[in-house]
Amino acid sequence: MTQFNPSQAVTAAVPDPRRRARSYPDAGEVARLLQPSYPVYCLRPHVFERAARGFVAGFPGTTLYAVKCNPHPAVLRALHAGGVHAFDTASLSEIARVAETFDAAECFFMHPVKPRPAIASAHRVYGVQHYVVDHMAELHKLAQQLRDDPQVTVMVRLKTAESAGAFYHLSAKFGADAEEAAPILAEVARLGMKPGLAFHVGSQCLEPAAFTQAIAQAGQVAAQAGVELAALDVGGGFPAIYLGTQAPDLNAYMTAIRDAIARLSLPAGCRVLCEPGRALVADGQSLLVQVQLRKGNQLYINDGVYGSLSEMTAADVRYPARLIRLEGGRIATPTAPEETFDAHGPTCDSLDMIPKAFRLPGDVREGDWIEIDRVGAYSNALGTDFNGFRPDTFVEVRNEPPGGL
Ligand SMILES: Cc1ncc(COP(=O)(O)O)c(C=O)c1O
Repeated sequence: MTQFNPSQAVTAAVPDPRRRARSYPDAGEVARLLQPSYPVYCLRPHVFERAARGFVAGFPGTTLYAVKCNPHPAVLRALHAGGVHAFDTASLSEIARVAETFDAAECFFMHPVKPRPAIASAHRVYGVQHYVVDHMAELHKLAQQLRDDPQVTVMVRLKTAESAGAFYHLSAKFGADAEEAAPILAEVARLGMKPGLAFHVGSQCLEPAAFTQAIAQAGQVAAQAGVELAALDVGGGFPAIYLGTQAPDLNAYMTAIRDAIARLSLPAGCRVLCEPGRALVADGQSLLVQVQLRKGNQLYINDGVYGSLSEMTAADVRYPARLIRLEGGRIATPTAPEETFDAHGPTCDSLDMIPKAFRLPGDVREGDWIEIDRVGAYSNALGTDFNGFRPDTFVEVRNEPPGGL
């Protein structure tokens, strides 16, 4: 078979898509060599790995990665290489994915509502030892399936106050308030399993104080229940940087958590855990899309709300974006002054429209590509097959995410 040779591809009018490189310098080279009419995710394994290393070094306990945020195997592998060896999994299929990717990785089954067979398989087949509940009936369901295994830790998920700025309030659907949680926690201990507490302050939490308050509340619930905690899980919610994000530095969150935990005087054996998703993976991935048609300042592109960009309408996220144009097989540098463009996704649905999506050079035209950056969190994970447009091409790139946002 002919070896891939980038210098041949430069001169070819249409490079042979079968001659794919494993890794590209950046998304511009992906556009130049593949000229894709389909969306392409550009993964930066070194960025995922670096984020994992930083988080693991800063967090005073064990860092679990929330697999739901981006379950791509290359992402899991890069985080694992960066020192994340434990995973927050919400379903049996996520547990299986982790188990199939790593010889030894710890899964925590952190969905508060679980089917009985999923509990049984998680425990018997995959040896899962950590679970979460937020209701007495779920605890008894779990205890029956696990036959009160004394090695198992059951964490009770607490409701937290809505934190300002968070994209999603994650205590609307799940979580027990303090009065409900204390008896459930006491019952975990009575059943002979190890009691723990967990919470989630909301995704993209912009206030470190939200962790301070929730940890203090956890201390009160443990005291009320009269149990010694075997685990305290402070959840995810650590912010990523998007256009216009004004978030404190990650260190401010780590300090708030460390100080709040120090005030609790937890028992020596208590495991402190966290479950970040977004903060670990957002900037390790960009998305290359192509403009299929321009109508005034509306761009019809090949990915949208039903694919990778749902957070642009659900949470008003604005990603940094840059135009990539080819002229005569070479990357051109567009110089027109920037304008604001709406973006319309490829499906036939009118919800698939993103007002004021991007600032781009005013002469953007059909055939140009847009690199949408910092899309590692909740993009491919939320993509659907609607109208047959699921983006599913992944390549690796070696460049850095854009800074100075
Ligand atoms: C239970 C749980 N843990 C962790 C996460 C990850 O949160 P984030 O991506 O905001 O860090 C989520 C997100 O929905 C969650 O529901």
